[in-house]
Amino acid sequence: MNVLFLGYGKMGSALGDAWLQSGWVKEVVALDPGASATGKAKIFRQAADLPHMRFDLVVAAVKPAMASQVIEALPVEVWDRATLVSVMAGVSCDELERASGSRAPVVRAMPNTPVMVNRGCTGLYSATLTDPAALERVRNLFGAVGVAVWVNEESQMHAITAISGSGPAYYHLFSEALADVGVRLGLPHELSALLAANTALGAATLQCAPEADFAQLRRNVTSPNGTTAAAIDVFEAGGALRALVQSATEAAQQRSVELSQGN
Ligand SMILES: NC(=O)c1ccc[n+]([C@@H]2O[C@H](COP(=O)([O-])OP(=O)(O)OC[C@H]3O[C@@H](n4cnc5c(N)ncnc54)[C@H](OP(=O)(O)O)[C@@H]3O)[C@@H](O)[C@H]2O)c1
Repeated sequence: MNVLFLGYGKMGSALGDAWLQSGWVKEVVALDPGASATGKAKIFRQAADLPHMRFDLVVAAVKPAMASQVIEALPVEVWDRATLVSVMAGVSCDELERASGSRAPVVRAMPNTPVMVNRGCTGLYSATLTDPAALERVRNLFGAVGVAVWVNEESQMHAITAISGSGPAYYHLFSEALADVGVRLGLPHELSALLAANTALGAATLQCAPEADFAQLRRNVTSPNGTTAAAIDVFEAGGALRALVQSATEAAQQRSVELSQGN
C-alpha cells in the first residue's frame, strides 16, 4: 500500500512514520512546504513536484482552514484508485467530497497524539467507503497505532473529537496541576512530575483491563476516612469536578461544530 500525505506535521508524520515502521505501508509520499525529510517518507514542497504515481490512500493532515485548497490543488490522476482519509478536526465529508470532486470515497478519522507511541484512539466514519475489505484495511491502519473504531453517524465525530481527540490535553493538564502541587508540598519538580506521569500510566493501564469498572477502581483506592477519601470528597463536593469536565468537554464539542461550519 502507498500513501500520500497532505501535510506532514505532528499528526501526519506520527501516522506516516508509524505505518512505515509497522510494515502496513510500503511507501509514504508527503506534500508539505515546510516539513524536513526525516525518516523514510519522501517529501515534496508543492503539488506540481509530486511524482506521477497512483496512491491507495490520500491522508489530509493540514490545518482545517486550508483543507479544500490543498485537496483541490492535487492532479486528478491522484484519485485513480485512492481513498481520501481526513484526520482534520471539523472538516465534513461534504466538504471533502466537494474538494476532491467526488472522485474518491471519503473517510473521516479522528486520531489523537498517543498514536506517536502506538497508544492512540481513532474514531472513523465514512458514508462512501462501503467495501468491507476496504473498511477493514482502514481500521487496521489506525489499529496499528492504537485502538480504532468505526462510528455510524458523522455527528458522533464531534463527540470523539471532544473526548479522545482533545482528551490527551485534559490528562496532561491534570498531571501538570498534580505535579505543581507536589512541588508545593515539598517534592523536587522532577520527582513530582515522575510520580504524576507514572500514576497516570498505572491508572490508565488498570482502566484498560477487560471489563474494568472505573468507579470500582476508584473505590478500591478509597478506604473510608482515609487520605484518598479526603481528596475525593473535595473533587466530588457539589459535583464540582464532573460539572467542570462536562462544561469543558461540551466546549470542545461546540468548537468542533463551529469548525465544521467554517467559523
Ligand atoms: N495534533 C493533534 O492532536 C491532532 C489530533 C487529531 C487531529 N488533528 C488534525 O491534524 C491536522 C494537522 O494537525 P497537526 O497538529 O499535525 O498540525 P501541524 O503540525 O501544524 O501540521 C500541519 C502541516 O501541514 C503543513 N502545511 C501547511 N500548508 C500546507 C500546504 N499548502 N500543503 C501541504 N502541507 C501544508 C504545515 O507546514 P507549516 O508548519 O510549514 O505551515 C505542517 O507541517 C489538523 O487538521 C488537526 O485538526 C490533530
